[in-house]
Amino acid sequence: MEKTNTTQQLKSVDSLFKSLSLGILDLSTRIVMAPMTRSFSPDGIPGPDVAAYYRRRAENGVGLIITEGTVINHPAATGDPNVPHFYGEKALEGWANVVAEVHEAGGKIVPQLWHVGITRRSGSLPHPEAQSVSPSGINLQGEKINEPLTEEEINSIIQAFALAAADAKRIGFDGIELHGAHGYLIDQFLWERTNQRTDEYGGSMIARTRFAAEIIKACRLAVGPDFPIIFRMSQWKTSHYEAKLAATPELLEQFLTPLLEAGVDIFHCSTRRFWEPEFEGSNLNFAGWVKKITGKPTITVGAVGLTEDFLGAFRGKSSGLADINELLVRMDNDEFDLVAIGRALLIDPAWASKVREGRFDDLVPFNAEALKTLY
Ligand code: PHB
Repeated sequence: MEKTNTTQQLKSVDSLFKSLSLGILDLSTRIVMAPMTRSFSPDGIPGPDVAAYYRRRAENGVGLIITEGTVINHPAATGDPNVPHFYGEKALEGWANVVAEVHEAGGKIVPQLWHVGITRRSGSLPHPEAQSVSPSGINLQGEKINEPLTEEEINSIIQAFALAAADAKRIGFDGIELHGAHGYLIDQFLWERTNQRTDEYGGSMIARTRFAAEIIKACRLAVGPDFPIIFRMSQWKTSHYEAKLAATPELLEQFLTPLLEAGVDIFHCSTRRFWEPEFEGSNLNFAGWVKKITGKPTITVGAVGLTEDFLGAFRGKSSGLADINELLVRMDNDEFDLVAIGRALLIDPAWASKVREGRFDDLVPFNAEALKTLY
C-alpha cells in the first residue's frame, strides 16, 4: 500500500481557499469555525478576551465564524452561568465588540442562537427557580420528568428567538445560526423520542418540524429577506450517537421541506465524521444529501483535521491529524460548499493559515496537552 499521508501526496488545498458569493453572503474562504461551547463569559457577558479569541481565527483565514451557542432570552435557556447571553444591554455590547474585532480582521461572523431545553439540570444557574422545558417533559433518555411546554410558552420562546435575530442584525452580525441539532430544544421537537405531543407540534415527521419552522419564519420576519439564516441540524444527539431523525432520503426530504419553505438559506449538517456516507447506496455524506435535496448551500463538519471523533478526545485520548484528501475530493465534487472546523481550530487559531501555506508540520496535534492552553 502506498502511503497517503505525506505532504507531497496531498491534493491541492486551493479549493478550501476559494471565495464564495452566495448573494446574501460573500465569504473569502470555504473554512467555517464550528460553534463550540467555551463557558468563558461570566454572568453571560462576552468580554474583550472573547473578542480577541474570535479575532485570532478571523485573522488566520477563517471565512465565517459561527460563535459558541449564545442563549436567547428565556430563563431556562441554559444551565451554565458562564455561557454568553444574547440579550440584555451588557451582553449585546460585548457581542457588538466581538463583531467589530472580527470585521476589522476581515472576517464574517454569525451568532449561534441556542436553547438547551431539557438537557438543562433543574435548579442550575443562572435561574435556579426556572423549570427546564421541552416538548413533552421527556428527557433524552426517554424518561418523563416534568410537564410539556404550553402553547403560550412555545410562542414566547419563538418570539425570544426572533428578538435575538433582530438584535443580531442591529448590532452588525452577518447572519444568524439557529441551533437545531444535538438534542437541544429545537431538536427535542424534531426527535420522535422526546416529542410525543398530540397537538399540531407533534405526531408526524412534518408536525415535529413545526416548532423549528415557526422559529425560522419569525426570525425571517424579524430580519427581512436578505439576512442569512443558517439552520444547524444533526441526526445524532450528544448522548445518542446512533439516533436518526430521518432513516431514508425520502424521509429526509419530508423533514427538510418545511424548513426550506420557512426561509433557511444555508443548512449546517452536523456529523461526527464527514467521510461517512449518510445512506446506503451512495457515497454522499449528510451535507451532500441535504444539498442535493434542497438545492441550498451546505456546511459539512465532523472531525476535519483530526482522526479521533468528537468527545473521545476529551476523555484523554490524543488525536493525530487526518488525511484531508478525502475532504478535498468531496469539495471539488461540490458535494457541499463550506467546511466547518471544530477542535482543530479550538487548539490552533492559525490552523487555516498553516493548511493554506502547507505548514502541516506546524499544526498543533489535538491532545490533552493542547487543550490546556486554549487562546
Ligand atoms: C457542549 O457544550 O458539549 C455542546 C454544546 C453544544 C453542542 C454540542 C456540545 O451542539
